[in-house]
Amino acid sequence: MKNDSRTLLRFTVPERINHWLVALTFFLLALSGLVYFQPLYYPLSQLFGGGTWARILHPFFGVVMIFLFGGMFFRFRKLSIITPTDKDWLRHVREIVNGDEQHLPEAGKLNGGQKVMFWSLVTCMVLLILSGIVVWRAYFSFLFPIVVVRFAAVVHAAAGVVMIALIMGHIYIAIWTKESIGAMLYGRVRRAWAKQHHPAWFREMTGGDK
Ligand code: HEM
Repeated sequence: MKNDSRTLLRFTVPERINHWLVALTFFLLALSGLVYFQPLYYPLSQLFGGGTWARILHPFFGVVMIFLFGGMFFRFRKLSIITPTDKDWLRHVREIVNGDEQHLPEAGKLNGGQKVMFWSLVTCMVLLILSGIVVWRAYFSFLFPIVVVRFAAVVHAAAGVVMIALIMGHIYIAIWTKESIGAMLYGRVRRAWAKQHHPAWFREMTGGDK
């Protein structure tokens, strides 16, 4: 059922499955990638059957991610187009952090912060994929001059660190915005939640103010 008298449908079943598979694959990628990022993290290799297996599996997790994140990209790209209202919303970040949401421009289904997060994730993912292909020694590295492989290794590590930081921020905000994890788990949000956090989307869905 799309909407009822108390709740609105925020994410469909395919959207939620896609999101959680991306999240699972992200953790597999981050944990196996950290293994050879810094010796401190080497013990994480035990999760994958040892250092050799972590190294073999990491790029294949990456291939799975290309398809899963690709799905996410096509689902959310139109919703994530940044409008002048979003820019205005972003100028109020300080007030939002202070819990003062009274004078905020009305957010649509996604707010300006979520859209900036989306495009930052897309940028990191593109860098990770392109540099990841170049540093995948078993299949592709021999096609590139060694300086390119070395440069790609730096880009890959840097984009990986930024991506992990972004996802930590994403999870923090998801916990901070009460009920939003429920939206991604069960698909639905209370009308009052939608009205408070995404008023323009609320009006679009209800055609009114109930
Ligand atoms: C344990 C890990 C994660 C948690 C708890 C989590 C939580 C959430 C929640 C609650 C939402 C819905 C927000 C709303 O209703 O407004 C969401 C949306 C989204 N998530 Fe995640 N997420 C996680 C991992 C990831 C990862 C790894 C990615 C991508 C690499 C990702 C990408 C997205 C995107 C693109 C959206 C839609 C736009 C948005 O709401 O920001 N998430 N996530």
